[in-house]
Amino acid sequence: MKKIKNPSKYLGNELRYLEKVLNSENWSSTTGNWNQALEKKFSEKFDSKYAVALNSGTSTLHASLEAVGVNPGDEVLSPALTVIMDATATIHANAIPVFVDIDPDTFTMDPEDLEKKITPKSKAIIVVSLYGLPADMDKIMQIARKYNLKVIEDNAQSFLSKYKERLIGTIGDIASYSFENTKHLSCGEGGMIITNNKYLAERVRKIGGHGFKNLTAEEGRVKLNQDTFQNPYYKRHDLLGWNYRMPEFTAAVALAQLEKIDELVELRIKSAKYFIEAMNETDFLIPQQVHEGYSNSYYTLGVKYEGEKKIGISWEKFRKEYIEAGGDGIYGAWSVPYLEPVIQERNYAKRYPEIYENISYPLGICPIAESIQPKLMQFKTNYRNLDIARYKSDILYKLAKKYI
Ligand SMILES: Cc1ncc(COP(=O)(O)O)c(C=O)c1O
Repeated sequence: MKKIKNPSKYLGNELRYLEKVLNSENWSSTTGNWNQALEKKFSEKFDSKYAVALNSGTSTLHASLEAVGVNPGDEVLSPALTVIMDATATIHANAIPVFVDIDPDTFTMDPEDLEKKITPKSKAIIVVSLYGLPADMDKIMQIARKYNLKVIEDNAQSFLSKYKERLIGTIGDIASYSFENTKHLSCGEGGMIITNNKYLAERVRKIGGHGFKNLTAEEGRVKLNQDTFQNPYYKRHDLLGWNYRMPEFTAAVALAQLEKIDELVELRIKSAKYFIEAMNETDFLIPQQVHEGYSNSYYTLGVKYEGEKKIGISWEKFRKEYIEAGGDGIYGAWSVPYLEPVIQERNYAKRYPEIYENISYPLGICPIAESIQPKLMQFKTNYRNLDIARYKSDILYKLAKKYI
């Protein structure tokens, strides 16, 4: 079977901008202007007052958790269907992950289970817009206000999605994005936070920038005043931080991608629509439900596969047949985070025994996520040519038709 390749990711100014960075003296955000330019454009496009670029969508989560005031021993609630990073970032902040079950149709955090899992130790909620679909933000925000919890939106998979006419990202206190290789906007690795809260923006920048005292919500360049910075008596750091800074090369590529973000998002949405049409007549491929008032930017098309029960074909066999017919690989969903060895084996507990000694995550704590996760199929949507998406979705249509 001939492999049909996606066109290049470099749709616009990437190479031109990269060359400019290479030819400059400034390859770091401590002196350069590319992070600044990226942040400015990102905050404008995503309707937020502040944007801070960091080097991944995990460092953004970690910095956000510390910025909103999560302290050792606090509990952070996050959904049971998501990547591991929401939990590992929580552990890196010396806090305790608490897993919340999902809605069986939208696969996003279930507000009812969220409220049940709140305790006096709860401090923050990480709400994930899974596969590009916002969660039920009104209900989640209501609960957050009732219990005085901070809300971090993890929008790594969700660019420009809307919830009731509002762009997601500023509904919670702070929002995190990832620019990792597979994301709508990619520069290999990278991340961004947005917020309307000046204090939080400054905290994130300082946590991600070695705690340099002259970092602000708007300013990531620390060496602006050479006389001050080069003086031996100058004291630089007033906060414990990490180096989560984004290199200028990465910022330049991300900026060029951002210039094309509408097109990039649109391509995924249109590709997903082809695949949804292709499975319309089946009762064994059930796409993630998008309720009235929500929009999905389709990082991937999440589908519940009921073929085992309805047509007697296993998940693996259906995937194999699709690939053999010329379709692309279908990804399964990542394991429910607490069933990963890194959490089950509890080595992390040694970091802080007094916090984690009584923490365990037995099977059954989030039954809906546990039962749906093995059934999920993630169909590729990052086609940069809709003819390919159409061609691949036709292959799926023919395969599905065989089993109707
Ligand atoms: C929902 C979600 N959160 C966080 C991350 C972590 O982002 P990164 O890979 O940039 O660290 C990802 C990316 O894989 C993600 O999909």
